[in-house]
Amino acid sequence: MNEIKNALTDYAEEFTSGESDVLRELREHCNAHYEDKAMLSGFFQGRVLATFSRMIRPKVVLEIGTYLGYSALCFAEGLADGGKVITLDVQEDTNKVARSFVERTEFAKAIEFHLGNAVDIIPTLPETFDLVFIDADKPNYSNYYNLVFDKVRPGGFIIADNVLWSGKVLEADKDENAQALHDFNQMVQGDSRVSNVLLPIRDGLMVVHKN
Ligand SMILES: C[S@@+](CC[C@H](N)C(=O)[O-])C[C@H]1O[C@@H](n2cnc3c(N)ncnc32)[C@H](O)[C@@H]1O
Repeated sequence: MNEIKNALTDYAEEFTSGESDVLRELREHCNAHYEDKAMLSGFFQGRVLATFSRMIRPKVVLEIGTYLGYSALCFAEGLADGGKVITLDVQEDTNKVARSFVERTEFAKAIEFHLGNAVDIIPTLPETFDLVFIDADKPNYSNYYNLVFDKVRPGGFIIADNVLWSGKVLEADKDENAQALHDFNQMVQGDSRVSNVLLPIRDGLMVVHKN
C-alpha cells in the first residue's frame, strides 16, 4: 500500500510545475544544514500553496511561522500587484537565512519580516488579510485562528499546516501537539462562520473559507 502511495506521490510531483532556482536552493540548503528540515513545506506542498495564492491573488497574506522563508516565497508568487506577505517568527538565526534568500528574489520588497512572538504581534497588525497561513507552534493554533479571524476579510482564507500531525491526531492517548491540533480541527469543523476542507496533503492542510 505504501509502495503505491509513494509511487503516486512521485507521479504527482512529476506532473507538477517546477519551483524557482532560489526555492530549490533553499530546500537543498535546509536539507544539508538543518536537523528540523521537516519544518519546511517542501516541493509539492510549496507548489500547492503557490497555486492557492495564484487562485486567490491576495493583496495581503499573513504567515505565522517563517522558518527559512520557503512558504513565504511560494505565497508571494500569487500576490496581486502591490501586494505583500507579512511573515512572523521568533527565531533570529533562521530569520537571517530567510531574509538572505528572499533578498535574491523579485519578491524582496513584497515580503515583510517581523521577529517576535506571533501571539503578541498579531494584535498590533492593522492590515486586513486575504489569506492567513498558520504554521508555527501547535498548541497555539486555536489561539492564532481566534486572533486572526476578525482580521480576515469576508471571503478570505485561513490555511493551517500539519493538522494530521503524522497521524497522531488519531491516537487515543494524544500528546500535547496532537491534542492541540485535534482540538483545532474540531473547533474549525464546528465554526458556522466558515466552510472548510481538510486536505490529506503531506502532514494535512486545513483550508478554511470565511463566509
Ligand atoms: C514549521 S516552521 C514554519 C515553516 C514555513 N512556514 C515553511 O513552510 O517553510 C515553524 C516556525 O514557527 C516558528 N514559531 C514557533 N513558535 C512561534 C511563535 N510563538 N511566534 C512566532 N513564530 C513561532 C518557529 O521558530 C519555526 O520557524
